[in-house]
Amino acid sequence: MAISPYEVLSKYYQKIIYDNEYDKWTDYLLTVVKEKSPSVSGVDIGCGTGIFTRKLKKAGFDVSGVDISQPMLTVAETISRKERIKIDYIKGDMRNIALFKKVGFITVVNDGINYVEQKDLKKTFNSFSKCLQKGGLLVFDLSTQYKLQFVLGNNMYGDDSEDLSYLWLSEYDSVENKVDISISFFEKQGETYKRYNEYQTQYAHDIGFIETALIDSGFEILSVTNPYGQDILSKEERILFVAVKK
Ligand SMILES: C[S@@+](CC[C@H](N)C(=O)[O-])C[C@H]1O[C@@H](n2cnc3c(N)ncnc32)[C@H](O)[C@@H]1O
Repeated sequence: MAISPYEVLSKYYQKIIYDNEYDKWTDYLLTVVKEKSPSVSGVDIGCGTGIFTRKLKKAGFDVSGVDISQPMLTVAETISRKERIKIDYIKGDMRNIALFKKVGFITVVNDGINYVEQKDLKKTFNSFSKCLQKGGLLVFDLSTQYKLQFVLGNNMYGDDSEDLSYLWLSEYDSVENKVDISISFFEKQGETYKRYNEYQTQYAHDIGFIETALIDSGFEILSVTNPYGQDILSKEERILFVAVKK
């Protein structure tokens, strides 16, 4: 049974994706927002199940979450309700976001920009620019070409537990510079397992291309570093961009 991206993964996302490393580099990301945002109001775009959105809220920010996937937003809402954290979650496409009020910061955390095709990057940054007040902060990370090609690319991993088994296959396409991911879930239902196949694509982006698209969309780039604010090494898997709207 083929389903749309994150329809089944949303249920298991936090278990599969979330680890100590995530906590560490998003801690750094949070300090960047604390230091550089001109106001407490912001939007976490591509918020998914809201892991970073809740972290921002707990740190005192007035933040809402936007994501294109309703199943991810439903998980985010359920967790927020359970933890009694009030956050508005809105379904939206980062390539064309419209907000009622301009905000002081935008974050896009954990590969959100890797889901945007190169042809849509400028449009996406333009839509961010329209949502930000003057001097507003944009912070996002990006999985590198190295990670997509040599770490994820043409690789397979998975897990096998009583309630769920999954197989994650990634195929790198060097012509289009993207990785096509196919995840097969085997979910226990009574005495049998039901199989679901989910597909998604992540795009590798050239740093120079991103920088030009940001500048053309009215941003000044403050830094391009590794996820901890340090120099980028040749086998870096993640890069952090910090920019402000001019
Ligand atoms: C890897 S998840 C990251 C989720 C979350 N930010 C986190 O840190 O765990 C990427 C998210 O980007 C969302 N996404 C992909 N394309 C999008 C788009 N065009 N507009 C808004 N969200 C998008 C996906 O639905 C998914 O929830």
